[in-house]
Amino acid sequence: MVGLGTRDLIGQRCRKLIASAVHMGYKLIDTNPIFKNDHMIAEAVKNSKREDIFICTKVPASSLDYNSAFDSVEKTLGNFKFDYLDLVLIESPGKAEIPGHRRCHAKYRAETWRALIEMKQQGQIKNIGVANFLPRHIDEIWDKYAMNPVANMIELNPFCYEPEVIEYHKEKKIQIIAASPLARRSKEIWNLPILQELKVKYKVSKAQVLLRWAIQKGAVVIPKAKDIQNSKLNCNLDFEISPEDILTIDALARNMRLGWNSATIK
Ligand SMILES: NC(=O)c1ccc[n+]([C@@H]2O[C@H](COP(=O)([O-])OP(=O)(O)OC[C@H]3O[C@@H](n4cnc5c(N)ncnc54)[C@H](OP(=O)(O)O)[C@@H]3O)[C@@H](O)[C@H]2O)c1
Repeated sequence: MVGLGTRDLIGQRCRKLIASAVHMGYKLIDTNPIFKNDHMIAEAVKNSKREDIFICTKVPASSLDYNSAFDSVEKTLGNFKFDYLDLVLIESPGKAEIPGHRRCHAKYRAETWRALIEMKQQGQIKNIGVANFLPRHIDEIWDKYAMNPVANMIELNPFCYEPEVIEYHKEKKIQIIAASPLARRSKEIWNLPILQELKVKYKVSKAQVLLRWAIQKGAVVIPKAKDIQNSKLNCNLDFEISPEDILTIDALARNMRLGWNSATIK
């Protein structure tokens, strides 16, 4: 499945792009209160049937406690003027750096998870999940609440790929949502000769090779594109990368992380 990332998308451009993307058939739209684009997305989808839109949003790292999680979700619901949100993720296993709170991440994420469970029971949220959680953070909430997240949004692209993490999510039936699946178009990845070779071999774009690779790893991808033509290409992934070529791409892994690194969060 392909969704639309919306980091850095605001204003008229955001409205136009989302409206065109929905018209093209995009259903999943990923956002975050810190992107400050809820109103623009809401405006762009206002004529769509509610069930044709799937909003994935987050409780941001700064709102990681029981009451703040409720406040955050209520605010988002108000911004969208929706009765429910389709998927809400805890943005990070760690509360954003606040002096004195550094040792309490486990307590805050557990409280936030409890708040999400309650909001799911009350019907404000259909599905609850996490982002940037390591397997040990997920095991911990399972031990406490016996409820796994339906999804974990983690950075996934050939430079940020750990086979054991993919296996863990498969085994637990937790859907990976690939953040930064195009590695934010970083030159290191974009200029690789192998990417050029595969682009020619499969008669697609470099972006399509990267997105198809992540999908064959079992992930949902949410590339962000300001360009409507790119959004069109990004959802056209009806081809198959051969197992040999998948292995070649796998071998590019180098633990390069562009976004969150949760390794230090206890
Ligand atoms: N939960 C989290 O912690 C987290 C972290 C990171 C990202 N995310 C989510 O994941 C989404 C995607 O990640 P991202 O925004 O970091 O980066 P990304 O999707 O990996 O890369 C975006 C870059 O790729 C370019 N691009 C898109 N389609 C292209 C195409 N077909 N050909 C060439 N270039 C193309 C875009 O250009 P233009 O913009 O100029 O079109 C932009 O520069 C975010 O928007 C956000 O929703 C979540």
